[in-house]
Amino acid sequence: VKRIYFDNNATTPPHPLVKAKVLEWLEIWGNPSSIHIDGRGPKTALRDARQIIASSLGAKALEIVFTSGGSESNNFIIKGHFFRTPKLRNHYLVGATEHPSVMETFEWLKTEGAEVEVIPVERDGTVDLEKYESMIRPTTSLVSFMLANNETGVIYPIKKMAKIAHAKGTTFHSDCVQGLGKMRFNFHDLDIDYATVSAHKFYGLRGCGVAYCKTGNTPESLIKGGGQERHRRAGTENILSILSLAEMIKTLPQIDSEIERIRSLRDKLESEIQNSISGVYITGRNQKRLCNTSNMIINGVDGETLLMNLDMKGASVSTGAACSSGSQEPSPALRAMGLTIAEAQSTLRLSLGFENTESDVDRFCEILVPTVNRLRSLDLRELKSNGI
Ligand SMILES: Cc1ncc(COP(=O)(O)O)c(C=O)c1O
Repeated sequence: VKRIYFDNNATTPPHPLVKAKVLEWLEIWGNPSSIHIDGRGPKTALRDARQIIASSLGAKALEIVFTSGGSESNNFIIKGHFFRTPKLRNHYLVGATEHPSVMETFEWLKTEGAEVEVIPVERDGTVDLEKYESMIRPTTSLVSFMLANNETGVIYPIKKMAKIAHAKGTTFHSDCVQGLGKMRFNFHDLDIDYATVSAHKFYGLRGCGVAYCKTGNTPESLIKGGGQERHRRAGTENILSILSLAEMIKTLPQIDSEIERIRSLRDKLESEIQNSISGVYITGRNQKRLCNTSNMIINGVDGETLLMNLDMKGASVSTGAACSSGSQEPSPALRAMGLTIAEAQSTLRLSLGFENTESDVDRFCEILVPTVNRLRSLDLRELKSNGI
C-alpha cells in the first residue's frame, strides 16, 4: 500500500510537471556565463525563469537573487543587510517563532555586536501589534517576521507589520517559504523590502532559493567570486532547480481550487481526529492558517514515540520542526508561543500536499486512533506500576 505522506512542510515530492521536464532541462547544461552557443541556451532559460518568478511574485526581474535555498536566502538577507548598515544603527527585531535559519542568524549577529530583541507571539498565534510598534526604535535597522509558520501554519499580518515598520523608517524582511503555493500573496502587495522562498517547499527540486531584494536594498554578498546575480551571489547557477521553481510558479494563477481542496481535507482530518480522540488541541485553530497545516497537542502522548509508531504503520508525519527531530528538544517556536515542555513534546504536525486524497485522511485516522489509545494505555499501566 502507498505510504501516507503528511510532511509537506519539511519537503515536497517533485510535481509531475517538474518530473516530466527534468530530462529536457538536463540538456541545458551549459554555463550561462559562457559567451559561446552552449552558454546561450542556459542564459536565456535563466532569464526567462527569473522573469516568470518575478512577475508572478510581484517583483522586478533584477530584484530576484537566486541562492541555494531558503536558509541561504535568510542568511544572505540578514547578514548582508547587517554588513551594509552603519554600526550606529544597531537594533534588530525578530519574530519569536522564526525558522532556525533566521533565529540562529540573529543569534550570530549578537556575537557581532548587534542588539536583537524578540517580538512575542501569543499562544493562539496572535501578535500584539501595539506592543510590536512600541518595540521599534529610531535605531532599528531591520525587522524579520515570517509570512506563515512552518510548524503551526499560522499566517501573520505581514502587510500591517511592514507598514508599521516603514512608518518608523525601518526595513522589513519576511520569510515567505511556507506561504508559496499554499496562499496567495505577492511582495509588491505586502510592501516588504526583502523576502525568501524556496523551490523544494513547493514541489520543485532541492537547491534553489530566492532572495527578493527590493530596488534600493542590496545586502553584502556572502559568496564572493564571479559576477553572477549582479555580484550579489557568486557561483554557477543551479539551472535545473531554478527551472523547476519557475515551472511551479507558472501554476500559481490556477492554484485556488487546489488550496481549497487541501483545506477541506485538512479540516476533515482535524474533525475526524477530534471526534475520535479526547484531549486533542489544535494550535492556532482560530487564526488564519495555511490550508495544509495542522499542529495538535495530543495529551498524554509523547510526540516522538507517536511519530515512530506511525512511521512503522506507513505514515510520515513530524513533531515540531523536521530539522529538530532527532534531538529530543521541544520545538523552540512552540515554547515561545507559551506551550509547556510537556505540551510541546506531545505535538503532532500534519502537513498535506497535492498528492493527498480523502482516502489518505481516512486511512490515517484508522492508524492514528488505535495507536494513540495504545500509547495512552501503556502510559497508564506504567503509572500504575509505579504506584501513582
Ligand atoms: C519557514 C522556513 N524558512 C526557511 C526554511 C529553510 O529552507 P531550505 O530548506 O530551502 O533551506 C524552511 C524549511 O524548513 C522553513 O520552513
